[in-house]
Amino acid sequence: MRHKLSAAQLHGHRDLRLAHLVLGFITAGYVWQDGEEGPAKVLPQNLAVPFWEVSRRLGLPPILLHADLVLANWRQRDRAGPLELGNLDPIVWLPGGESLRGFVLVTMLVEKAAVPGLQVPLGWVPLVPPAPGWPPCPLADHVDPDTFYTAIRLFLSGWRDNPAMPAGLLYEGVWELPQAYSGGSAAQSTVLHAFDAFLGVRHHEESSAFLHRMRDYMPPRHRAFVEAIQALPPLRELVLSSGNEALHCAYNRCVTALAAFRTRHIAVATKYVVTATAAKRSRGSPGTSPLQAAPSRPEQRGTGGSPVLRFLKSVRDATREALLNV
Ligand code: HEM
Repeated sequence: MRHKLSAAQLHGHRDLRLAHLVLGFITAGYVWQDGEEGPAKVLPQNLAVPFWEVSRRLGLPPILLHADLVLANWRQRDRAGPLELGNLDPIVWLPGGESLRGFVLVTMLVEKAAVPGLQVPLGWVPLVPPAPGWPPCPLADHVDPDTFYTAIRLFLSGWRDNPAMPAGLLYEGVWELPQAYSGGSAAQSTVLHAFDAFLGVRHHEESSAFLHRMRDYMPPRHRAFVEAIQALPPLRELVLSSGNEALHCAYNRCVTALAAFRTRHIAVATKYVVTATAAKRSRGSPGTSPLQAAPSRPEQRGTGGSPVLRFLKSVRDATREALLNV
């Protein structure tokens, strides 16, 4: 049978990344169009087959990813202008208007702000603790919690660790059985994985398993970057055995900044997910549309499927445990 969309005309990495972004959005829209209570269980083959083909060529899973929604989803209004919020727009939008714009672009700018830190393990810049105030995280000014909760969150959800789709999604014409894939989450961002690997942060068992699984949702070269850092001589042990007090302090300031980022992020997740769920549940009127209903879940899950607060606190606490006694 002929499929209306063919990936055969796509050439090169940029074409494929753009196609993955677009097909990921269409898939999310298709699956969640009737809300969390009535997701589609089958992805029709005219969408499933090209999405699988593009994903296979990129080495990525066929679902909307952080690498789509954030990393590939921005363009400059003025191409000669700065990479700043006022000069950027998402390429593909979800419902959510300005909040969607803020959610995508602020996250992208946090990634950008982390670039100098990513150059440290490569030896391009010396180990310098981040400036106070890193990272710039003005989410509250740009993302309305209610809009995030009711209009954006749903479309980032996946079909693994999600009670709304316990059986996964059948990709018609690709696989005989339904597949389980986690939803899009910044837990798939390479940045924090790279910092953890470089600083020698060791996560607790359950969180570590989740974070490792998230690496399967990164572009292969991003994953390889994290693995290359992990293969370096362990920095923490080198600093520890150096007996150099200034080095101990610099290392500890980096770990402290990373833990502080995670503490701030817990506050963000609490505001946008945990508190928003509680508010929806207590308001839960019979007239609520399926798209706006609070999930009837025993434990609040993130779009990536983690048990939100338990996971984020464990990740933050493990970061603090890397601190050296000086
Ligand atoms: C409205 C904004 C945000 C919300 C509601 C949110 C929520 C969450 C949740 C629930 C998780 C747990 C994993 C999951 O199941 O998805 C998570 C993980 C994570 N998020 Fe966010 N997040 C937001 C913005 C950001 C931003 C701007 C960044 C910066 C890049 C970020 C970076 C991370 C990272 C790195 C993780 C993995 C855990 C860690 O390494 O600390 N998030 N987020």
